[in-house]
Amino acid sequence: MSVFDLWDYAEDNHALVEKQRKLIGVMEHDDQRFAATGGWGFEGFGEGRPDKRLVSDGGKGCFECHQAAKDRKYVFSELRD
Ligand code: HEC
Repeated sequence: MSVFDLWDYAEDNHALVEKQRKLIGVMEHDDQRFAATGGWGFEGFGEGRPDKRLVSDGGKGCFECHQAAKDRKYVFSELRD
């Protein structure tokens, strides 16, 4: 399971501060359930709200872009040391 938490930001006194949450993206790994999208199930939540689901195409749109990270199992982020 991987979660992407995207926030809007503003500049305040030469610092970047968080404003509103834009969305939460979630990827869940299950080779059988999500075979059509590289073994990943995709869902997004507008403003992080459970009642604002963003995915209506079974995750195809998300997966198309995540194909760019195919050699990393479709995950862009890497762990930091
Ligand atoms: C236009 C390309 C694009 C689309 C479409 C896209 N993503 Fe991503 N996604 C990215 C990139 C690039 C990152 C890495 C961003 C970063 O680390 O700042 C990312 C990161 C993520 C992550 C964190 C894990 C990782 O791969 O680094 C999740 C979870 C995620 N996206 C879910 C989704 C979901 C759910 C959707 C569809 C609602 C979606 N993404 C659509 C490009 C995309």
